[in-house]
Amino acid sequence: MKILAINGSPRTNGNTSLVLKDLLAKAEAAGAHTSYFDLADLNIKDCKACMKCKKEDCCSQKDDMETLRPLIQEADLLVLGSPVYMGDQTGLMKCFIDRLYTFMGPSEKKGELKSRLSEGKKAMVIFTCQMPNGNMVYNYIAVRYFNLLVNMLGYSDIRSYIIGGANLNEDLRNTPQGKSALDDGGKFILESLKANV
Ligand SMILES: Cc1cc2nc3c(=O)[nH]c(=O)nc-3n(C[C@H](O)[C@H](O)[C@H](O)COP(=O)(O)O)c2cc1C
Repeated sequence: MKILAINGSPRTNGNTSLVLKDLLAKAEAAGAHTSYFDLADLNIKDCKACMKCKKEDCCSQKDDMETLRPLIQEADLLVLGSPVYMGDQTGLMKCFIDRLYTFMGPSEKKGELKSRLSEGKKAMVIFTCQMPNGNMVYNYIAVRYFNLLVNMLGYSDIRSYIIGGANLNEDLRNTPQGKSALDDGGKFILESLKANV
């Protein structure tokens, strides 16, 4: 099973990165093939709305999305992580998400688009935030990502975790919400691995 994790924090050794890397370490130990990217280290431009991807299965822009595109197509599990910035994902993550529009191709139904990704993929979304009850306050983020990944891009199963109480440089492996997300997310990965064999 292939797992691709993408971190949308500008802090490449911050809270979100720590959670993502902890999950990937568990997945590797259980036999998964993992890859990890910090968007902060990549050059991913804003979508230009040129609509080339609606006519052809490609993007007009030549940047690091060319590296990520085949990895997203191959990944059985996509793990997206971002800190909450002003009640939402970071700009880095939003820019990346907009470029996923390239995976939306024409459909038989006029005016509708359908996912070009293969069926059966799974996804995990991890947000970290300082507010102790951020898991409740920001739960609309989980709804939006469900819509994006399941309704629009056709992912078959998704888990979302919003980890509150994440002060800067908090070791989220030792906080109740961090532990709970890592335990549950780890189980989801192991179950997915078993189902994938
Ligand atoms: C610009 C900025 C905006 C933030 N906005 C919020 C917010 O709206 N709500 C919140 O609970 N935490 C907010 N935070 C705190 C971060 O989400 C939190 O500390 C997060 O775990 C940092 O993750 P990182 O170390 O991966 O960058 C903000 C932090 C920054 C720097």
